[in-house]
Order: sequence, then C-alpha cells, then structure tokens
Amino acid sequence: MKNAPLKKSRRSFLKKLGAAAAAAAGAPFLLGAARPRRNVRILELAAEPARRVAPNDRIRIACIGTGGMGMGDVDTALKVGGVEIVAACDLYDGRLARAREKWGQDLFTTRDYHEILAREDVDAILCATSDHWHEAVSVAALRAGKAVYCEKPMVRTVEEGHRLLRAEQETGRLFQVGSQYVSGLVPTKARALFEAGEIGALNFVEAMFDRHSPLGAWQYSIPLDASEETIDWQRYTANTTRRPFDAKRFFRWRNYLDYGTGVAGDLFVHLLSELHYITGAHGPTAVASSGGLRYFKDGREVPDIQIGLFDYPETKHHPPFNLVLRANFVDGSGGQYLFRLVGDEGEIRVGWDTVKVTRRPWPKAPGKAIDSFSEEGRKAFEQWYDAAHPAHYEMEGPASIEYRTPKNYPGDRHLHLRNFFASLRDGTPSVEDATFGLRAAGPTLAGNQSYFEKRVVDWDPERMRITTRL
Ligand SMILES: NC(=O)c1ccc[n+]([C@@H]2O[C@H](COP(=O)([O-])OP(=O)(O)OC[C@H]3O[C@@H](n4cnc5c(N)ncnc54)[C@H](O)[C@@H]3O)[C@@H](O)[C@H]2O)c1
Repeated sequence: MKNAPLKKSRRSFLKKLGAAAAAAAGAPFLLGAARPRRNVRILELAAEPARRVAPNDRIRIACIGTGGMGMGDVDTALKVGGVEIVAACDLYDGRLARAREKWGQDLFTTRDYHEILAREDVDAILCATSDHWHEAVSVAALRAGKAVYCEKPMVRTVEEGHRLLRAEQETGRLFQVGSQYVSGLVPTKARALFEAGEIGALNFVEAMFDRHSPLGAWQYSIPLDASEETIDWQRYTANTTRRPFDAKRFFRWRNYLDYGTGVAGDLFVHLLSELHYITGAHGPTAVASSGGLRYFKDGREVPDIQIGLFDYPETKHHPPFNLVLRANFVDGSGGQYLFRLVGDEGEIRVGWDTVKVTRRPWPKAPGKAIDSFSEEGRKAFEQWYDAAHPAHYEMEGPASIEYRTPKNYPGDRHLHLRNFFASLRDGTPSVEDATFGLRAAGPTLAGNQSYFEKRVVDWDPERMRITTRL
C-alpha cells in the first residue's frame, strides 16, 4: 500500500527539469533499437548562512576524550563561532599535552572527567571517548546539568541506551548524537526528494562503506611512550573486563569488544542514521549479519568484512523495504562509498558531496518477445499488440538531477555542531536525540549479535529492544 506522500510521485518529474531538459528527456526512442538518453542537470545546494552571535553570548565547552575525533570536533566547534574551550580530559598524557599545544597552555586538563563535570564554567561537553565510556560520561554530564554532544555510536549496549534515554528525559538537558550526516546538506536534500515521492514507493536500500588501508582498518599508530605511566589504564578499564596493560587495546580499541562495537557499530551506524533521517524510518524488525576476518589477523575480535540484511516494516513514512549494508577493509579495488535508495520509479543516490535523483518511468507497453512464434503467430500478435498498445514505441529515457554542495560548504560536522549550539542557545529540540541515537545504534548491536550467534535477531524499533525469536 502506498501512503500519501508516495502518491505525489505520480506528478510529472519532468516539469521540474525545466523546459529544455524536459524536451530532451521526453525524446522518444525505439524499443530495442535505441539506447535511453541520459539527461543530467546539475544544481548547487546552498547552506543557510551562520547566525551572528553577540560577543558576550559564548558557550563554554570541554572535551572528554581528546583523541582523533575529540580534537576534530573541538576544532570544528571553535570554527562555528561563539564557542570557547575551557577544559579537556583524556587518559593518555600525550593527548592532554597536544590539547594544550592546540588550545593554549592555560587550558585545564585532567585524566578524571568528574573534575570537568564539577566545573561551573562548562556549559556543554563533547564526549569523544572510545564507545565503552559514552553512556557513563554522558549520563553523568546530563545529571551535572551540562548539555552533551556525544559521538556515535551512542552506546555499546542496548541497556546503556535506555539508561541514557532516562537521563535525557529526567534532566531535560540537551543531548545530541554526533552522526553528522543528519545535519548535512546532501542528506537533507535526499530527504526532501524522498518526501516529495520522486522515486515512487521505496523497495530497497543498499549502502556500503569499503576501505583498503591499514589506518582505515583501525591499525592506528601507537606512541612510543605508551606505558602505564603515561596512560591511566585502571580508569580506562574501570567499567569493563580488567586485563593487564595493553597499549594495542588502548590505541586500537575498535578491534576489541570490551571497548568498541566493531564494523557494525562504527560504520553501519552512520548508514542507519542517514537512512532513518532521509526516510523517517524507526528501524528494522529483523536483522541478519554475516562476514568474517579475512586479512587483518592482528588479534582483533571483530570481522574485517561484515554484511547486514535488515527488514523494515511498513510505517506511515514508507512501505516495507529491505536494506543491505556492507562495510569491509579488504576491498582490493580501493574502497568505495555507496548509498542508494531504490523505488519503483527511480533511485536517489547519495554521495559525499552530491545527491542524484534519477527517474526511470516504466515503459508504456510491455514489449514483444515473439521471435520463436510462427510467422502466422507473429503477425497475429503484432496486430493485436498495435491495437492494445498504441503508444508502444514510446518510452521516456531516464532523467536525472544531481545536486552538489557549494565550493564554500563548511561540511556536515560543522552544520551538526552549529545545530547543537543553536539548540542550546534557543532551547529548540535536539536534531539527533537519544531516541534517534538508540534507534540507529540498536540494530547495529543486533547485527553484531546475529554475526556472532549466526542467527536472525529480532529488533523492536518502537520499544528499542532486541526481542527473542522462539
Ligand atoms: N562522527 C564521526 O564521523 C566519527 C569519526 C571518528 C570517530 N568517531 C567516534 O568518536 C569516538 C572516538 O574515536 P577516536 O577515533 O577519536 O578514538 P581515539 O582512540 O583517537 O580517542 C579516544 C580517546 O578517548 C579517551 N578516553 C577513553 N576513555 C576515557 C575516559 N573514561 N575519560 C577520558 N578520556 C577517555 C582515550 O584516552 C582516547 O584518547 C568513537 O566513539 C568513535 O566512534 C566518530
């Protein structure tokens, strides 16, 4: 059954192409004798200009987890404007030294995040620790009255997700997950195209994140001074399995289940967040995942190729559809990023900087396959066909519009942090709250369960729980 917005798709897509493009796109071609003409019109997207902020209206932030992403998030936040950094927390001294190098030798730095939360001069924290500390840090920060921007995946277990949801509800503080595509120009355009029904009824979605490099596969550099002197290993492992000090586990934590969420939690979560944002979907009801460890046999506990199949139920936003995800680090072709929503009338292809909508209307006649008929049979069929399908030679070729980010585009993360600070200033709702975060992270955790237990795992997207299949 098609819902109201999808029905709108019947309106002429070509009208929007403008007269010239429409004329070309509508040019007839002979069935089987000519190739469809490709018509692509390219348009530039525009970001809303940044709002001016009064000099005395500054938001004071602190970063907890100043590794690669924490430093990137702070640098971006400072570029948004109206923001200043007053403190940083990390468990490796080298990163605290780097934080002082970047943001001033006077910056307050500590290994203990509670000291950050106790400071009255901190309005908001950016949490970019390894996944296993997201929930504890975020909950404590919300309960200390801070606004929280928490990196993806929001949590490492579904239970953690519900604790975070409770803290968000009970404190009423601003909480935003850091899956930046939710604020990006390209996904926002894709959402508008989807809502306008440009591809008809959604049938399936396929998305891929593929890489082919040791760094892409999480073999991050381990500093030469890494030791129990320079790293607070006791604090790091305080909420997970206690083990002897291991620098590899600290710096390459994504490879181990005590701290990370594997390929699914790290990468599928971006794709699910983007999909849910574009389609309004709340999540799948069944998840099956397969994969393996093919190349990076460096002691890691997670696969280096993972594939997920997700069944989405019908909702008021979309009909039932299937989702196929793949992320791998063994892609000898160099790796690629693909995100394609396919409907019965075309596709929306989402790239890093572009979104392309292509409309492929069905032919007006089914076509003929009559070579194997007798001469008499062919003649009779031709006669019948011409009468039954007067417009049978005519079919519209595919027509596409590609939208691109402008040259001066500040990037999805910039807009995502801009949204966070705007919500904090104006009291407007989070663009990616804990419910959204758990609806994106939960199915990836179900995917991991499916991978390790080799069975289909059911997920309830409304209650946000893994359910048991009897
Ligand atoms: N949004 C994105 O596109 C994006 C990209 C990369 C990473 N991330 C996310 O950001 C987070 C950090 O990833 P990363 O690549 O920066 O990892 P990283 O290893 O470079 O940095 C993590 C830092 O967290 C610190 N840390 C861990 N537990 C802590 C605690 N209890 N208190 C204080 N500091 C603590 C570690 O010392 C480390 O320096 C992850 O959750 C990751 O998924 C998001």
